[in-house]
Amino acid sequence: MTGFGAVGARLYAWFNRHPEANRAVVDVAALRPGDHVLEVGCGPGVGLELAARVVGAERAAAVDPSETFVAMARKRVPGADVRVAGAEDVPFDHATFTAIYTLASMHHWSDRDAGLARLIAVLAPGGRLVLGERLLDKPGHGITPVQIDEVTARLAALGQTGVRTVERRVGRRTLAVIVSERPFQA
Ligand SMILES: C[S@@+](CC[C@H](N)C(=O)[O-])C[C@H]1O[C@@H](n2cnc3c(N)ncnc32)[C@H](O)[C@@H]1O
Repeated sequence: MTGFGAVGARLYAWFNRHPEANRAVVDVAALRPGDHVLEVGCGPGVGLELAARVVGAERAAAVDPSETFVAMARKRVPGADVRVAGAEDVPFDHATFTAIYTLASMHHWSDRDAGLARLIAVLAPGGRLVLGERLLDKPGHGITPVQIDEVTARLAALGQTGVRTVERRVGRRTLAVIVSERPFQA
């Protein structure tokens, strides 16, 4: 369930042209040349463009269930591997990426646990998983402290290490960014 048809995607891209939140999440991901990066729920590709500046478009990939967003992201970052898919069915091989990040998509996933498990499967040993959401008081288009506890517990149960949440101020909003690593040995 994407919630973003062609018109919704174009309106979203128009009203969300500012990269501060994307920059904050990409900064937390601490990308470096040589990383192989996946953005999940890339929308129009603002964060993908920031990542590609660090690792190169040929080492940047993204998925989004909206065909309109995928077309926008491909146009914004030629050479990146952008595919139509959700977090739950990311169509890449196991252990492909050294860094995976997402911003404001997790609350859209139809099955959060399945999405987390799939992302960890395509994360290389030692790779970083970075999940950014707007911090909320009550459930909505973001994440609450209770939901953060659920996600961090799930990540630990899936074997992720160094599970932690950092906060970043973006304008009047607070971003909660849940970071974890896949261990080298399970
Ligand atoms: C609020 S937008 C955020 C877009 C982009 N990350 C940004 O911050 O500009 C939410 C995005 O999540 C995507 N989405 C919806 N369901 C998804 C799923 N199951 N897996 C991954 N992304 C999904 C939407 O298509 C949309 O691009």
